[in-house]
Amino acid sequence: MNILAELQNRFRAALVDLVDETAEMVALVRPSGDPKFGDYQANFAMPLGKRLGRAPRDVAQEVVERLDVDDICERPEVAGPGFINLRVKTAWLARAAERAFASERLGVEPAKAARTYVIDYSAPNVAKPMHVGHIRSTVIGDVLKRTLRFLGHRVIGDNHIGDWGTQFGMIIFGYKHFLDPAAYRTSAVEELGRLYRLVNGLVEYQEGRVALPKLRDEVEQQRALVAQSAGAAGEQPKSADKARRRAEANLKELESSLAALEARIAQVDNDPALANLAAAHPDVAAAVLAETARLHHGDAENARLWREFLPPCLEDIERIYRRLDVTFDVTLGESFYNDRLAAVVDDLVKRGIARESDGAICIFVEGQAAPLVIRKQDGAFLYGTTDLATIQYRVETWQPDAILYVVDHRQSLHFEQLFAAARLWGYRDLVLEHVAFGTVLSDDGRPFKTRSGDTVGLEGLLDEAVRRAYDVVSASDESKPTSGEIPPERRGLIAEVVGIGALKYADLAVSRTSDYTFSYDRMLAMNGNTATYMQYAYARVLSIFAKGEVDVDAMRASGARIELAHPAERALAIGLVQLAEALELTASEYRPNYLTAYLFELANRYSTFFEQCPVLKAPTEQSRASRLLVCDLTARTLRLGLDLLGIQVVEKM
Ligand code: ARG
Repeated sequence: MNILAELQNRFRAALVDLVDETAEMVALVRPSGDPKFGDYQANFAMPLGKRLGRAPRDVAQEVVERLDVDDICERPEVAGPGFINLRVKTAWLARAAERAFASERLGVEPAKAARTYVIDYSAPNVAKPMHVGHIRSTVIGDVLKRTLRFLGHRVIGDNHIGDWGTQFGMIIFGYKHFLDPAAYRTSAVEELGRLYRLVNGLVEYQEGRVALPKLRDEVEQQRALVAQSAGAAGEQPKSADKARRRAEANLKELESSLAALEARIAQVDNDPALANLAAAHPDVAAAVLAETARLHHGDAENARLWREFLPPCLEDIERIYRRLDVTFDVTLGESFYNDRLAAVVDDLVKRGIARESDGAICIFVEGQAAPLVIRKQDGAFLYGTTDLATIQYRVETWQPDAILYVVDHRQSLHFEQLFAAARLWGYRDLVLEHVAFGTVLSDDGRPFKTRSGDTVGLEGLLDEAVRRAYDVVSASDESKPTSGEIPPERRGLIAEVVGIGALKYADLAVSRTSDYTFSYDRMLAMNGNTATYMQYAYARVLSIFAKGEVDVDAMRASGARIELAHPAERALAIGLVQLAEALELTASEYRPNYLTAYLFELANRYSTFFEQCPVLKAPTEQSRASRLLVCDLTARTLRLGLDLLGIQVVEKM
């Protein structure tokens, strides 16, 4: 049961006769941050008092008189200027914990009104190495899918892969000019990857050389601006000071872009083989676009190559998904929608939603600076065209209530335009939500890159996390009194679970809208808000059962009661029955870090309980039986929570 939701209902009933809009007040009923103030708190007396023109304390008093929570809570208390503190009755709590213990779903009821969600996540551009940004989309989307599904909703996980973009123009061009047939026979994916990097490098080189003079000019101008504002220093107002600092920051930014561009150009210039290729293909960028266009227009040769390239590319990303334990219900990439694009544009034009502008077809939305272009002058369709066709297809196929797009925050503008266009097109009741996330940074605060400047590949990242997890697992095992009870091959399996779990958890535990700084050491810490700590807490419960030779099945069938005599026992029990609250909050805000925070808090409560309440040596037989149940429920709650995060547990570590 969701206690918070139930208490909010009770408050709503108490408030209806006092105020028209209860929602805003009810939202201020929350779990209390400090057990001193009870388990839940209602903090609406101030705004409500203001609304009614009465003293907040009086208003709080009146609400308490109208409030009916006797079955769940002790007598509500009005504190300070009008806070209402609620303390759940310990006996009620013990019964709620017993109900959770007895239920397969740990007391979480399925949603009364099941909705249909399509989740668009992961979506790497195949044939390009998948990078660390895609792991965020993959793991966040996977948690949302698992959690919404557990809560009883219908969920379609759709991997909208980029399998139709310019990267195919690049590898087709590369295949036609630079193929190493022997390497292609040995490993098609690796050779295609090499061709992609090679051609992309040449395109960037040529575009870079074109952009260089302009960028140099900009740096010069900015330098002059900074010098000027420094010269004018002295008694100047704060705003000038601020402008100077902004100019300096801009200059730094421009200088580092220039340095990066120069380095990229030098890489080709300093490599005779590459320099020759660059000289031999001076118009590679245009050639790549032409290959892409031929593919899109159904050229037989390019279509054949595309069909040949796709399977090994898909297999390559599939390997990563297997390791991450992530699956999709459908994988309908951009190419799937190619046949629909012309009709989508026609329909939008016919309805007067899109119109021509400078030879392109655009959708203008009131209040938005730029239009969504759906067909370029040369007739090519765009990313947004595909996204509109995709919405149409998803609605026809699954009639969803909501589509969630788990995509990098840098695409916010695109989704704003897309959603506005979709609404104009008639999709008004459909919830379209950009579940945006921040950038993965390295220690120096810059986007996470390898030394050579490439974004870090996902596979290397997984390997490194697992390698380090092996060391952590070994060190922990050797420090036990038994000193090394886990054989090496078993350690290897544990390391895979711990390493991958750590990587996922580190990503999930930060607020998804913030950037997050990648650190192997932090993610694998045995203490703190990490998967390792949670997995360890789980293993520790099982070790109690092993030590006490507890027959777990018999314990579960024993019908023993839960008694909450010690404050640490009570605090743990409250945590355990708040699972439903945590899951519903996670799902309604699309924020996995609410679930990680809940589990972390639960593991901490368990740790305090474990220190203060002997289990196997409990004072009475009854208390021992009760504590074993609480331990078991804790382990099951941690395991379920981690499972919804896509993280596995091990029995020993
Ligand atoms: N392939 C895109 C990228 O890697 C993400 C696609 C997200 N989904 C969508 N429907 N636009 O940036």
